[in-house]
Amino acid sequence: MTKQDWKPGTMVYPLPAVMVSCGSTPDEHNIITISWTGTICTNPAMCYISVRPERHSYDIIKRNMEFVINITTEQLAYATDWCGVKSGKNVNKFKEMKLTAGKASVVKAPIIEESPLSIECRVKEILPLGSHHMFIADVVNVKADERYIDTETGRFQLDKAGIMAYSHGFYYALAEKIGRFGWSVKKK
Ligand SMILES: Cc1cc2nc3c(=O)[nH]c(=O)nc-3n(C[C@H](O)[C@H](O)[C@H](O)COP(=O)(O)O)c2cc1C
Repeated sequence: MTKQDWKPGTMVYPLPAVMVSCGSTPDEHNIITISWTGTICTNPAMCYISVRPERHSYDIIKRNMEFVINITTEQLAYATDWCGVKSGKNVNKFKEMKLTAGKASVVKAPIIEESPLSIECRVKEILPLGSHHMFIADVVNVKADERYIDTETGRFQLDKAGIMAYSHGFYYALAEKIGRFGWSVKKK
């Protein structure tokens, strides 16, 4: 196999493309699409988002030290892209995309009602890294759409929501389940 050496770049894909909602009053509410995001600790549950300081959302999140990560779906793909190219400086993204700002349980930032899963986060630390600053946050509550909770097992079935991923400039539907955690070592 012949491999090429490329200069350092951001090549960890696929990633989620989440809609992060922020702001503590309707005037301040905004949505920013974020792919530089992930889980960084299980216990305590912690997440991060990395945001360029020039984004309108950056100051809002820094001011409130809170945000909500809303998982996106195929249905939300258009809004996800739109909220990732338009700035809240000039438009009301909730209004333009006909998204509903719902009440979170713990943080003041709104959840996006149309998202199947909203992760309420409180910022613990801001790490200035370079182009992006990393908001390291505690997960303080998770709001899950009951439509995707199996009434018999109680399991949350995010796959039923039509989840999607982002890879190198394109959005993909994640349609097919191909294995289960641990199946590679399970005795037959
Ligand atoms: C798929 C996708 C992923 C993005 N990921 C990030 C990201 O991780 N960090 C970031 O600062 N901007 C990211 N952006 C760009 C912002 O979403 C975009 O600049 C947006 O218009 C900022 O909105 P605001 O000015 O209202 O905050 C992404 C955009 C798209 C479409």
